[in-house]
Order: sequence, then structure tokens, then C-alpha cells
Amino acid sequence: MESTFAREEEVKTKPLPGHVGIIMDGNGRWAEGQGRRRLDGHREGSQSVREVTRCARRLGLKALTLYAFSSQNWARPLDEVTGLMALLAEFLSKEREEIMTNGIRLNAIGQLDKLPVLVRGPLEALRKESRGNKGMVLSLALSYGGREELVSAARTAMEKAKRGELDPSKLDADTFETFLWTADLPPVDLVIRTSGEKRISNFLLWQSAYAEYVFADVQWPDFRAPQLLDAISEYQRRDRRFGLTGAQAKPAPP
Ligand code: FPP
Repeated sequence: MESTFAREEEVKTKPLPGHVGIIMDGNGRWAEGQGRRRLDGHREGSQSVREVTRCARRLGLKALTLYAFSSQNWARPLDEVTGLMALLAEFLSKEREEIMTNGIRLNAIGQLDKLPVLVRGPLEALRKESRGNKGMVLSLALSYGGREELVSAARTAMEKAKRGELDPSKLDADTFETFLWTADLPPVDLVIRTSGEKRISNFLLWQSAYAEYVFADVQWPDFRAPQLLDAISEYQRRDRRFGLTGAQAKPAPP
């Protein structure tokens, strides 16, 4: 079997997605399938986060956005929410050094004021510390919802209009995008969802308008570097048209 290193080199010879978003689904089912607690699935899922982030960095991706906790996840049983918050805090403290030595800029999107201090504290500290890093932006979507983000952007636009800073008749997609939580991130090229489910689940609704979707038939704890490479290879086989005809979308031959 080809080594991960060889596969990475092969994937790097073709155009890479600049920004990859991942819906990390299936931690609970992975654990329940083994008669274990759901939280064990989330813990194993944290290991996938580490391995996938390392592989994305080695490949040279510009941005990786991970859906770690949705606006809707607050309604889960209290012990699961508390356990997930503790895992996030642990990840932020344990990965601090690796994030810094690898030039990764840590970012977060979502209703961050809803997070407990246990997470917000190390998150804000690492965001600040890694602000100047140029290697790859790792964004954690936390207390995140695409609809919530769009409502927040609409509110910003309305407030600006009320203050006379924005003419409503001049509001276009480019301006609206600057009000999104992802304003400083590159366009999303590829969205991956694990666990075999084929849903968007309120993830990057605006940003994924022209993204390619890849659905992986493994639970998130089993999604590691080889599976990321499979997903990127599939992306590289796709024909992206952005609403144009096939002939228009293809660059003219030399
Ligand atoms: C979805 O699986 C996963 C989550 C709601 C949480 C994702 C969290 C992690 C991967 C670990 C911590 C994150 C970081 C960044 C260190 P599910 O629980 O909905 O699975 P199920 O659909 O099988 O129940």
C-alpha cells in the first residue's frame, strides 16, 4: 500500500482546494457501536482533529474550518455539552505549542460570547498569540450556525444603513460578505462531511454556494490523513463550473 507521504506528494502535484470545511459527524455512533460512552467518541474525534490538521498543514492548504459545536448542539444532554467544552479547552492548551511552531493562525467563528470562560479564555489567548502566523488558518466553528451568521450579517447591514453608513440600494454580495464571521477567510472550495449523512446542517451556508461536497462513509474518529487525501483526490477529479458552461469554465488551450 502506498504510504501517506507518497500520497501527499501525489495530491500536491494537482490544484489543491484553498479552503476546506469539515462537518465532523459520527462521534456518538462510533462510540455507541463499540458499547462505549458518546464522550469517548468525541475524545477519539479530537485525535482526528489533530491528524487532519497536521496533514492539511503539510499539504499547504490555506484554510481549514472545522464544525466543532453548532448553535443547536447546546440542546444536547448537559454532561455531553460539558464534556465537549472540556475537550475543546484541553485541545487549545495541548495544541498551543504545535500551532505556534507550525505557523498556524487559530481562528474561531460563531456566537463566541456563549462559550464558557473555560473555552473562551484559552481561545482568545491563542487567537491573539497566533494572529501574525501566515501558514494556515485553522478556524473552529463554535456555537456556530450558518443561519445565525446570516442574521447577524443582516443586522450589521441594517445598523450601518440606520447610521447612514450604507446605502441599502448599493448593498451587493461582495459588501454583504464583509459582514460575515468568515470575512477574512478565502472562499470555501471543498466541504467534507463524515458519517455517510448527506446534509448541510447549518454549516457555512453562504460560503459553500460553489463549494464541492464530498461525503465520506466513515465516522469522524475513523477519518484521518488517508481519508482526507481520498476526499481531496475526489475534489481534484471534479469539474468546477461556477454556473458557466463546460467550455467557458475550462481555460483555453495554449
Ligand atoms: C458530531 O458527532 C460531532 C460533534 C457534535 C462534536 C465534534 C467535536 C469533536 C470532534 C471533538 C472536539 C473538537 C475539537 C476541535 C478538539 P455526533 O456527536 O453528532 O455523532 P452522532 O451523529 O453519531 O451522534
